Order: sequence, then C-alpha cells, then structure tokens
Amino acid sequence: MLEKIRQLVKNEADEDDWKYHIVPVANYAKKLAKLLKVDEEITELAALLHDIGRLKFGGEDHDITGVPEAEKILKEHEYSQEIIDEVKHCVESHRGSKNISPKTTIAKIIANADAMAHFDVLPVFFYWRCKKSSFEEAFKWVDEKIERDWNKKLTLPEAKEMMEEKYKAIKLVLDSNRKYM
Ligand SMILES: [Fe+2]
Ligand SMILES: [Fe+2]
Repeated sequence: MLEKIRQLVKNEADEDDWKYHIVPVANYAKKLAKLLKVDEEITELAALLHDIGRLKFGGEDHDITGVPEAEKILKEHEYSQEIIDEVKHCVESHRGSKNISPKTTIAKIIANADAMAHFDVLPVFFYWRCKKSSFEEAFKWVDEKIERDWNKKLTLPEAKEMMEEKYKAIKLVLDSNRKYM
C-alpha cells in the first residue's frame, strides 16, 4: 500500500522535487520515527503527502489545500480514519511559520524533517532560486531559509543534534562566500 502512495506522489511531483525534497524528507522522517518510537509507516505516509497541495496546486496555502487532497488519496486506498486524521494534521501543521502548530509527535517529525532536507541539498536551492533571480538574491534567500530552519523549524532536540554538523559547515561556506559580496 505504501508503495502505491510512493508511486502516486512520484508521478505528481516533478523529478527534481521528488529526488531533492520529498525523498530526503521521507528519509529523515523515518530516522526520527525510529528514534522517537512512533509508527514508521504512518510517518512515511505523512512525509510523502506533506507537500501534496504544493505539488498539485502550487505553493500558496499548500498546507491548507493539501489537507483534503491527502484525505482523498488515503480514503481511496482504504486507510483508517485514525491514520487519515493523523496525516491531515501533519499536512496542515508542517510549515513552522503558519498558525497551526504540530501537536502530535509524528506532526513534529514531519515539520522537522521538512527543514532537515534543506541542509542536505543546499546546492539545489541555489540552482532553483538562481533560475528566478540574481545570485546575490538567491544567496540571501538561501541564507535566511537555513537560519529560519535552524532557529524555528528544528524544534526537536534529536533533529537539531542530527543536523548540527551540517548547519555549521553550511554557515562556514556561506560566510566565506559572503566576504566577496
Ligand atoms: Fe511544504
Ligand atoms: Fe516540504
């Protein structure tokens, strides 16, 4: 069943989004689920579906638009209402900046994993952003994103510990570039 959802999301996403965002989010979510002893399958489901609103309808309000879409997909695959409700809460609360904060451990894991994925694929962010703006603007955007992830989105101490080395390395590289700007 999980494999079917995996295929469905993969087909919905463009290739880069799947490879460089959804897959790393799912990987970190599974790691945290194991560490915090919550259901790994529900966690992976939520990770796969957390951005379904963005993949289908675009970035604006995708935490809202993703909720009925996730419900529809899970209902079609005959998941229980309990699992559907958990995944819906993960979708609606995955953006740290918005009004609904994650209440369950799985929802916290998804919000954290969403940010952790950024630390792994930093060059991809430059590539994505530079398609739309100058390098300096992309740099500012990436720099602020990483800071927001580190300070606001990584709320689980386990997640922060996992990413600390990468965060410091990223800052070191960004700072060495900054002095030429
Ligand atoms: Fe998102
Ligand atoms: Fe995401």
